Amino acid sequence: MTELATEIRRPEPERVEIPPLRPVVRVKLEDGSWQTIYGLQPQQNLAYSLTPLDRPPDRPYVKHIGYGGSAGGGKSFLVRAVAAAVALAWPGSTGIIFRRTKGEVKANHVIKFREECPEKLADGRRLYTYNGQDLLATWANGSRTYFGFLRDMDDAQTHQGVEYDFMGFEEATHYDWGSVRWLVGNRLRATVDMARPFAIYPSNPGSKGHHWYKRLFIERRYNPDMEEYPEDYAFVQAKLEHNFILLQRDPTYIRMLNTLPEPYLSWMRDGDWDAGEGLALTMLDRRRHLVPMFQVPEHWRLFGAFDWGFAHPYSFGWYAVNEDGRIFKCDTITGRHQVPDEFCEKITMRLKERGIQVDRLQYVTAGHDCWADRKALGENVPQTQEVMRSWGFRMVQANISRIAGLNNLRKWLQWEGTGPGGKDGEPGFTFMRTDGNEACFDQLENLPTDPDSPEDALKQNADLFGTGGDDAYDETRYGMASRPSPSPDQFIKTTTSPWSPEALAYEA
Ligand SMILES: Nc1ncnc2c1ncn2[C@@H]1O[C@H](COP(=O)(O)OP(=O)(O)OP(=O)(O)O)[C@@H](O)[C@H]1O
Ligand SMILES: [Mg+2]
Repeated sequence: MTELATEIRRPEPERVEIPPLRPVVRVKLEDGSWQTIYGLQPQQNLAYSLTPLDRPPDRPYVKHIGYGGSAGGGKSFLVRAVAAAVALAWPGSTGIIFRRTKGEVKANHVIKFREECPEKLADGRRLYTYNGQDLLATWANGSRTYFGFLRDMDDAQTHQGVEYDFMGFEEATHYDWGSVRWLVGNRLRATVDMARPFAIYPSNPGSKGHHWYKRLFIERRYNPDMEEYPEDYAFVQAKLEHNFILLQRDPTYIRMLNTLPEPYLSWMRDGDWDAGEGLALTMLDRRRHLVPMFQVPEHWRLFGAFDWGFAHPYSFGWYAVNEDGRIFKCDTITGRHQVPDEFCEKITMRLKERGIQVDRLQYVTAGHDCWADRKALGENVPQTQEVMRSWGFRMVQANISRIAGLNNLRKWLQWEGTGPGGKDGEPGFTFMRTDGNEACFDQLENLPTDPDSPEDALKQNADLFGTGGDDAYDETRYGMASRPSPSPDQFIKTTTSPWSPEALAYEA
């Protein structure tokens, strides 16, 4: 065998130059030198420069910072750097980084944080102590950084009573708007004198929170009556090409992104928020569709609608129709893991609080599963509708046609160009402002169309986007598909007694 001298020629790899990193988190060591913990790339630094950490104390800052929009842009790194900067800049402060589950926050943040940020500095002094039980880093200056999880409102409410100077909603589109709004609305506030609270929302397009994120950070549409002001929001787009470190480390990553199917390709590689599905109820407008709560007049027709659920939430809505046939949703009552007697009791109580007896509801239109035999629970278990009847609800089967139901709902909600002479009119269907209706409204506002059937809304079970619920949507659709007729004129009602003051006044 002869030995061959070989040379395999390869093209010179294109070298990616890494621009200088800006050291935003560094600590002075005992010998006077500095130890850098976090240095940011230019696009990350752009987002950082909007935070109160990088603004003079008397200058305004952006309270809600969106960052990213596509894969690999250095989103997760940025949120850890900002959390560490908050902890060191504001001694005694509290910050939290969320992911959807405990497993995700551990895998994506705790492990990386502990690699990037050493518990002990180069001179041997302790920088922080990590407690794996509580997923908590307690810093030497008394600050705390939590690693939290946020699947739904139940998780959000476990933070009742805790305040955070900083929140990082990593992969923000994985969260529903109700949970995020509740947390930033109630739990984001200064806990130490110098803190100026803010939140950062690193994310890609395309999960269940796609639409609220797009509205706030991309379309910049705000509801001043929800305390949303444009100056509080900014978005810094960061793509893979802004992450020089990753480009240098793994030049093949971009090729992997190129093989993604649509709409993921447009979302993950291009950061295109318009790709994929649209919204099903684009005409919804808080200023027009949410009205103050009022006492429903005695003679108005009332009815209910119900979408049953046990593991998923159930939704019960009650509605009032005025003399012109306009419909008001009076409240939405939801709950989970309740057997029929339990939810009937809850609904009955909630109606009572508003001065309504169950028998004032002319009917309750409900999904057909209320008529299903619940065999799994054993013999002779009554159907859900039977239990509801025993509580006085007059149950009728809903028209469950999805496409016709959505179109019908759209018609009721429409207001653009519906007035005289093609001017804007008033919608025929509005919601009284209650907590339950606000949550229902959020769901309707963020309801995507089905990419495979644009005439329909996306079904929960066929959901591309995780667990985004559509129970309140189904219930509202059933309610509005029940063809409620206008209430009788008050005059007709009151003249049933010829001696009533109204009748006498009319006689005179
Ligand atoms: N400023 C930085 N200094 C050092 N490494 C960085 C920096 N920014 C990003 N990286 C590295 O680049 C890689 C990708 O960054 P990161 O995980 O933050 O991106 P991402 O946008 O969260 O990605 P994905 O879309 O996959 O969630 C990681 O290995 C991260 O450590
Ligand atoms: Mg990430």
